[in-house]
Amino acid sequence: MPNSADLFISGVGADAIARVVDRIATRGYAVAPEFLDQGVVAALRANALRFDRAGLLLPAAVGHGADRVERTDIRGDRIHWLEEATDDPCERSLQDALEALRLAVNRELQLGLFGFEGHYAIYPAGTGYARHRDRFRDDDARVLSIVLYLNDRWRNEDGGMLRLHLARGRSIDVIPQEGTLVAFLSDRFAHEVLPARRERYSIAGWFRRRA
Ligand code: OGA
Ligand code: MN
Repeated sequence: MPNSADLFISGVGADAIARVVDRIATRGYAVAPEFLDQGVVAALRANALRFDRAGLLLPAAVGHGADRVERTDIRGDRIHWLEEATDDPCERSLQDALEALRLAVNRELQLGLFGFEGHYAIYPAGTGYARHRDRFRDDDARVLSIVLYLNDRWRNEDGGMLRLHLARGRSIDVIPQEGTLVAFLSDRFAHEVLPARRERYSIAGWFRRRA
């Protein structure tokens, strides 16, 4: 296991973005606690809960097109896609931060990130997401995966860690703590969500390259 002090970076704004880009360049992934303002994150969590009460979160599927299947044994979350044309202030703040990240990644790493798709996700207690990669078999447009966690005061014993599988059988576990952003190259890392013991909130998304 790499030294944990080494894995975590903190802060907001241009500095935080520069560190995320640097970690993606050197390791292929970045973990950034407190990436977004706590008030914004709390408002995003309130959105997730409100959308869920309104019945807008629907069981997620694996695969897409003709391969699309709902398999709660593989992934237990329900999701609601973000709308690009939102006027919700906290979603706009998230979009601004992600746009700054996209531009910095393109400038420094020439990944040619173009569009973004993302969704709110709620994992009920007892569910997770089995080991997978964020690429569809027939579509390699997803280049950079991101996850932003929306959980207030998550404790280790709540489970629900993101386990990112690195080279040579190593892995790291990321606690899905409010405000933490994880970014990783979509084709490089298998990963899984360990079963959570309480309801788990996040926004997961993908930067795509032009098809
Ligand atoms: C996904 C995913 C990880 C997480 O939605 O594809 O891997 O920690 N999510 O929520
Ligand atoms: Mn994934």
